[in-house]
Amino acid sequence: MNVERPIVHVVGARPNFVKAAPVLRALHERGAAQVLIHTGQHYDSAMSDVFFVDLGLPEPHVNLGVGSGSHAQQTAAVMAAIEPVLLEVDAGALVVYGDVNSTLAAALVATKLSIPVVHVEAGLRSFDMAMPEEVNRRLVDQISDLLLITSPDAAVHLGREGIAESRVRFVGNPMIDSLFRLRERFTPDEVMRDAGVAGSFAVTTIHRPSNVDDPARAAEVVEMLHRVADELPVVIPLHPRGRATLLATGLDRHSSLRIVDPMGYQQFLSLVSGATVVVTDSGGIQEETTMLDVPCITVRDSTERPITISHGTNRLMDLDAVPQAVREVMAGEWRPSQHRPPLWDGHAGERCAEEILSLLDRSNASR
Ligand code: UD1
Repeated sequence: MNVERPIVHVVGARPNFVKAAPVLRALHERGAAQVLIHTGQHYDSAMSDVFFVDLGLPEPHVNLGVGSGSHAQQTAAVMAAIEPVLLEVDAGALVVYGDVNSTLAAALVATKLSIPVVHVEAGLRSFDMAMPEEVNRRLVDQISDLLLITSPDAAVHLGREGIAESRVRFVGNPMIDSLFRLRERFTPDEVMRDAGVAGSFAVTTIHRPSNVDDPARAAEVVEMLHRVADELPVVIPLHPRGRATLLATGLDRHSSLRIVDPMGYQQFLSLVSGATVVVTDSGGIQEETTMLDVPCITVRDSTERPITISHGTNRLMDLDAVPQAVREVMAGEWRPSQHRPPLWDGHAGERCAEEILSLLDRSNASR
């Protein structure tokens, strides 16, 4: 038995960094040997480096530098590049986060190398297989040895897909640990001043392929945002995906819309914490607004995070319903749930760490 085989974490894109930081920290506090691999799926400084600094993530052992490409190219590039690294470091377990292409690619390689796979944020389902993330989630869950879930509904989905209950643990939401940890450092006034807003304002993030890839749909999104900007100033930290299409359809042609570069974690959540309302198609922001008590309008047909509707501030909406909903928020007619999702308490990283160490013990014992 070799107890020194490290726990290997794989991150690639913004939402991964926020979930991984508390788990790495908790395992570090427990003296675990760890290796962090960055796939390089996100590579711009504003999409990656600033998150490492804000979240106190350690320097990655290696950056695979895969960059952008089609889904097949990106997934294949991560697979080919990560296999020799997992062998070189003699991984004792692989921990993957969320649902991005890097998550699937790494899990697939580790499984075939007989390295136990841990999936943090398992079991979320939008039931929309047109979303690349839904494909990634379902496949990763099938091949994971330990599935760490953020909300009880995930256990139901996994059970229906034939995944044994003994592989599933309800640990809460490590993304919320990051929010709690940095909350004291939020500086809404400063970030609002930099973005040129004061008083009431909206924050918008739009980057889903379903909203930005097709120019006709992008034009409808832009029209909706202009109607919202008729009501109050809107700040849009613009993700590189869709930037060209949204600008070509006239996004910037409204005097109350402020288009800014993508923000770091602390800067972005500072802005959100001061906002009147958020309009988004993101996954994680539905959760963060729930904890910050900021009304969240999600412009998608489905959500893999229904707990943010039953226990938070989130509502799903068609584009044409958004301006009226914003007016209702501004009139104080929006009544979010008084409940908070269970175990979103700032200690999920510690529970993840305990479960991962138990898995390693079991795996070492059976070697
Ligand atoms: C990915 C995730 C998505 C997540 C999002 C968070 C998948 C399938 N999707 O989407 O679930 O919500 O990250 O941001 O993994 N680009 C840059 N600089 C970068 C990274 C990307 O300019 O640092 C541009 C490139 O033009 C690239 C495009 O953004 O083609 C999309 O990047 P990609 O990694 O393919 O997916 P995201 O849309 O970022």
